[in-house]
Amino acid sequence: MDPIIEITALSYAYPDGKQALKDINLTIREGEKVALVGPNGAGKSTLLLHLNGILDGRGKVRIDGMPIEKKTLKTIRSVVGLVFQNPDDQLFSPTIYEDVAYGLKYQGIDPKKVCELVEKALLDAGVSNLADRNPYHLSGGEKKRAALATVLSMQPRILVFDEPSAGMDPRARRELIELLQRMQQTMVIATHDLDLAARLTSRTVVLDSGVIAAEGPTLAILGNASLLWEHGLS
Ligand SMILES: Nc1ncnc2c1ncn2[C@@H]1O[C@H](COP(=O)(O)OP(=O)(O)O)[C@@H](O)[C@H]1O
Ligand SMILES: [Mg+2]
Repeated sequence: MDPIIEITALSYAYPDGKQALKDINLTIREGEKVALVGPNGAGKSTLLLHLNGILDGRGKVRIDGMPIEKKTLKTIRSVVGLVFQNPDDQLFSPTIYEDVAYGLKYQGIDPKKVCELVEKALLDAGVSNLADRNPYHLSGGEKKRAALATVLSMQPRILVFDEPSAGMDPRARRELIELLQRMQQTMVIATHDLDLAARLTSRTVVLDSGVIAAEGPTLAILGNASLLWEHGLS
């Protein structure tokens, strides 16, 4: 399979000077599911925000061969769907249906097709029953799945998740894992949930203090007790 994400010598400092990423090199192939683990403050969220050009560090990020730059940004964002850690960052309409339809309408897609894609995304994310609800009134787990539906409706080839299972009760978490197991897209999942990483991903990248400390097959990384200990993962 061809590389779909290529990160070369990526470094990023926040405006206050905090160096959050240092010389990151990582290639992900189409269809791969990769976990990104590491302690709080490791730089996981910062790295994810570079995958669709929300942040723009020094170095290079290519998506499906395209460098991320002003003129490719719109295309990049249709290829890379980012599910934020906090669903409140993704839900802002009076109903879930409108939230899921929002991006499609913005793209000027034919209304009949919009309906079709919204219904499918709601179904795939397991939230068809929430279509008419106000996001403000949903539980945390319901909001997370609704936020996923807003991203799925755009049919991205790459799905990027920031702490997808955080704050979910056991059933919601199990359903999320089963849902993501059924999906064929390339995935990058930042998570503290090592069991989720084991069930979903074939490769794991350990990030610590802005650098890649280790990477390899998920089972090998998760089986390395001293590595997990050293990077605050156990
Ligand atoms: N907006 C910001 N301004 C300054 N520093 C930030 C900002 N966001 C995150 N950081 C810092 O950058 C580092 C990496 O943060 P982050 O990517 O959120 O880590 P993680 O997602 O692994 O917990 C941390 O030291 C964090 O405090
Ligand atoms: Mg984070």
